[in-house]
This record gives sequence, structure tokens and C-alpha cells, in this order.
Amino acid sequence: MRHRDSWRHRRSLYQIGFLLAGTLVLGPALPARPSTHEPSGPSAAALDRIQRECLRAYPPDLLAEMASGAREIPSGVDADPEAQMQFLDKEIPLDKGLFYPILLEDLLPAFERYVTEGARFLDLGSGDGRVLFMANLLGAEAVGIEYDKRMVKISRRAQKALKDLVDPGRVRVVRGDFFASSWSGYDVIYYFDLSSFEQERVRQKLKRELDPGARLIVGYEQAPFPGLELEARIPEVEARDPVITVYRRATPAEAAER
Ligand SMILES: C[S@@+](CC[C@H](N)C(=O)[O-])C[C@H]1O[C@@H](n2cnc3c(N)ncnc32)[C@H](O)[C@@H]1O
Repeated sequence: MRHRDSWRHRRSLYQIGFLLAGTLVLGPALPARPSTHEPSGPSAAALDRIQRECLRAYPPDLLAEMASGAREIPSGVDADPEAQMQFLDKEIPLDKGLFYPILLEDLLPAFERYVTEGARFLDLGSGDGRVLFMANLLGAEAVGIEYDKRMVKISRRAQKALKDLVDPGRVRVVRGDFFASSWSGYDVIYYFDLSSFEQERVRQKLKRELDPGARLIVGYEQAPFPGLELEARIPEVEARDPVITVYRRATPAEAAER
């Protein structure tokens, strides 16, 4: 689960790609106009801060397990999410599944598209809470279910450190087994597809309970999600690590039309 490419480098390559594509499709005849587009999602600084506070909330024994014995965060790593991913060189097995955090910048493009203001959002296995905090910055009512007590404590500690950034009334971490709760009633469900030791059971429950019209956003997909429609792969370029996939359940009207 190492993150090999710098997302900032990747982003600039995409921007160049879009500019070239735009020139080819539209031709050079269009007059240049000032852009009116304002990026609406969280700033890079906000994402850096979330990831820094989450990592700072890890106790030394967890750091040692995940970072080859290091019990402190080296200077230089603290402020840089990519460096954090290099520093954390190992995922760890917990009672119900593996723990490793996702790089928020890898999720952001999919989240900016689907996690809209007021969305009811669920993270299955919320770990250190980072994804909930980003969803909240996009305007969601974010719920995370996490079985591991230590992870729940870390996410609550991080949330406290982020109290000026994240709306405390709209982020909730529930300690428990996510199979014991209903997954209906959410607009967006996010699942890191190495989270559970019971991958097939996750797929069957999503097939039954994802609401019509709702989205499932998957990080590090290991196998398809049967019964749901694949809606997007982001970025739409093969061989990127990771590709974020988005599934949707058809509404009854859509299903009847087919
Ligand atoms: C790979 S981590 C992902 C953390 C976070 N969602 C992210 O993307 O950064 C998976 C987390 O899912 C939790 N988990 C696995 N199975 C679970 C279950 N049945 N109920 C609740 N939490 C579970 C693990 O304890 C672990 O913290």
C-alpha cells in the first residue's frame, strides 16, 4: 500500500493534459477568457493539516508497529502527507481487518464530484478519521464506524485538534462492528477495499443495502462489487495507483426502463 507518485506532480500532468486536449478539441480560434472557476473543495493546506493531526494522534507503540520501530514522527515528515505515507511502511492487522490510512489527495477528485453539501456520508471502518474530516469539509454529515478501540480514540483525539476546522456536530465516530448497522439511509458510502477480513460479506451487504441512487466510493478495489453499476474510475487513466472506483445502485425507475 505504498504511494509511489507524488499527487502534486500527477495533478500538474493532468492539467497539462487537459490544456492540450482543450486546444485540440476547441482549436486555437477561441479568444482567451479569464477563468471564473473557483476551486470549491478543501484547500491543500486543510488536507495537510488533517493528515498531520491524524498522524500526531497515533500513540508511539502504533507508530513503532507501522514505521519500522520509530516512536516519533521525524521533522519533515510531519508536514508532508506523501512523506507520511513513506514513513508508515507497513499496514497492521487489527481484530476485524487491516489498518492503513488512505492519502486524502488520492480521494479528493472523487469526493469533490460526489460528496456534496448536506450529503449523508458513511465510512466503513473509519480508522484514524481522516476521510470523515475531509467529507465534513465538503459539507457532508459524516459517520464512521470503527471496531478498533485504539483507532476510535485516535480519531477522537484528531477531531479535537481540528475543532476549528471540522464541524463537531456533523462528524460522528461510532465504535462497533459495521456489519451490525444498517448501510441504508446514506447518499455516499466509502470503503477502503482492504479493510475487512470478510470482503465477500461486505459485497453482499452493499448489494442489499446501498440505497437506490446512492454512491459507493472504493479505494484500492480488489474485485468488482456485484449487483451495483460501475459509474466512474477516477482518474480515468489505467495503471494509476490507486484508481478510485465509484458504483451506484439504479433507482427503481431506471431498473424498470432496462
Ligand atoms: C484500511 S483501514 C481504512 C481507514 C480509513 N477508512 C481510511 O481510508 O483511511 C480499515 C479500518 O477498518 C476497520 N474495520 C475492518 N472491519 C471492520 C468492521 N467489521 N467493523 C468496523 N470496523 C472495521 C479496521 O479496524 C481499520 O481501522
